[in-house]
Amino acid sequence: MKKIIIAIDGFSSCGKSTMAKDLAKAIGYIYIDSGAMYRAVTLYCINNNLFNPDQSVKENELKAQINNIHITFQIDLSSGNPHTYLNGTDIENQIRSLEVSSHVSTVAALGFVREAMVKQQQQLGINKGIVMDGRDIGTTVFPNAELKIFVTASAEIRAQRRYDELKAKGENISLQDIISNIEQRDQIDKTRAVSPLRKAEDAILLDNSHMSISEQKEWLLTQYHLHTHA
Ligand code: DC
Repeated sequence: MKKIIIAIDGFSSCGKSTMAKDLAKAIGYIYIDSGAMYRAVTLYCINNNLFNPDQSVKENELKAQINNIHITFQIDLSSGNPHTYLNGTDIENQIRSLEVSSHVSTVAALGFVREAMVKQQQQLGINKGIVMDGRDIGTTVFPNAELKIFVTASAEIRAQRRYDELKAKGENISLQDIISNIEQRDQIDKTRAVSPLRKAEDAILLDNSHMSISEQKEWLLTQYHLHTHA
């Protein structure tokens, strides 16, 4: 069967990663979480003191080091899920912290960071057979992707999902802080100058506010079959 590129974009915490990961597993495709790449660069900045006291990035220093930042993915044998590696170290858990979440939009708004990440992402999709989720996959990274999906859900539902996820990991955080973080990130993601978050014209809209994970999975598989048997 012909292999295609599946681009899944949308707002933060609307379950894109879960659905993209599940779909990739079901159809034997590679799954790439492009947000994890921006999170890894953010962690690199935190670890290397590349934030100014006002939380802006020390851009010239990061620019000088951007080519030393190597991000890879490897399947974790115990969970069967891909883990993100920064220069050879597994950083999957660290990049999900609220500290990284609250700095990542600033880093992801930098043109030279996006340029470097988009190049790596395009390279990963060179043989197709890939599901990639993010914000600009259908618009910038793979404008010719055969199947594009744009996911959305209400802000309250997204905040509750992220809250449950962090709580399960033992992070002690208020729902209100998460709502603020999500709203702030949505705003930065939608209004940034380079590759702002927007639905590609040919993307299919999916509002999953009231869908279960298995309903989404079925919906996605139907879309996949429609686009590979056409
Ligand atoms: O999906 P996520 O929450 O892990 O993404 C983290 C941040 O990275 C988010 O603020 C938006 C940004 N991002 C982006 O700008 N482009 C992408 N393709 C993926 C994520």
